[in-house]
Amino acid sequence: MKPLKVALLGCGVVGSQVIRLMHEQAADLAARIGAPLELAGVAVRRLGRKRDVEVDPALLTTDAEALVTRDDVDIVIEVIGGIEPARSLIVAALSKGKSVVTANKALLAEDGATLHEAARQGNGDLYFEASVAGAIPLLRPLRESLAGDRVKRVLGIVNGTTNYILDKMDTTGASFTDALEEAQTLGYAEADPTADVEGFDAAAKAAILAGLAFHSRVTAADVHREGITEITATDVASAKAMGYVIKLLAICARSEDGRSFGVRVHPAMIPRSHPLAGVREAYNAVFVEAESAGQLMFYGKGAGGAPTASAVLGDLVAVARNRLAGTHGPEESTYADLAAHPMGDT
Ligand code: HSE
Repeated sequence: MKPLKVALLGCGVVGSQVIRLMHEQAADLAARIGAPLELAGVAVRRLGRKRDVEVDPALLTTDAEALVTRDDVDIVIEVIGGIEPARSLIVAALSKGKSVVTANKALLAEDGATLHEAARQGNGDLYFEASVAGAIPLLRPLRESLAGDRVKRVLGIVNGTTNYILDKMDTTGASFTDALEEAQTLGYAEADPTADVEGFDAAAKAAILAGLAFHSRVTAADVHREGITEITATDVASAKAMGYVIKLLAICARSEDGRSFGVRVHPAMIPRSHPLAGVREAYNAVFVEAESAGQLMFYGKGAGGAPTASAVLGDLVAVARNRLAGTHGPEESTYADLAAHPMGDT
């Protein structure tokens, strides 16, 4: 069977794990897909850098645009993050009929509409399971399994770095700065941790979740956001003394009358008996409440190279199967089910 050729954009914490898994699981992946995958090239910023994985130097390139538009490339994986050049590269790939797997929550939350439109016009797939809650299968259930239900609420911890920081502060009495440094050393934080600690990362994820849950277009600007930088060791200790723990929550909820929804991200005091209070370190946990399904809970590793790469690989298998079958996965809902109320009345 002719191999499906994969171009990878980015070879950092996640990209290097994607290469490792593609290599180590090549035979299993080929069997599951029905054709082997072949790495066609890896776009990086600098060629000479030391990497966490061995890559054939002949595959490395700094010309990402040439790579994603190459005729022989079938699938593009984008793990460089940020708005540009990621958006232009994804649009270029989709416009040429490639399928795209991306982990880029910031871009999806800012301008997902442009990407979805390019996918529709190019007739390719756009999959993005890794953009929210790392390894946890969450978007596919919202996008597919619950497509026949009516989601009322999505609520949870979707940022591993802030959960790690708040957990360290809670269990060891560490200061915010010391706990952040540890989270960075462990590779959980974004390159610029402002995105994590100010809640931008969680707000982007909340926008993606709300869009899927409520079949509406939601951007990060629709999300009321508050981070954890103002939380001191004393706040955490006082909450603990009262039987509470502080967590950064993302909350997407339908209004009482069911006609609109609100999306917000902010620190909240949770009773220690609540299931979310037991979510430790960089783990994520998300509750979904739907009219017929009732309450569902998703829990797992929300950050880190290998867990995020697992979600990328799952999408890679899905889009590869679709290409072989000449079909594609679910498109963005093209109608507005509900209207967003930025500050939320929910
Ligand atoms: N910085 C993010 C987090 C990485 O801590 O959750 C995963 O999106």
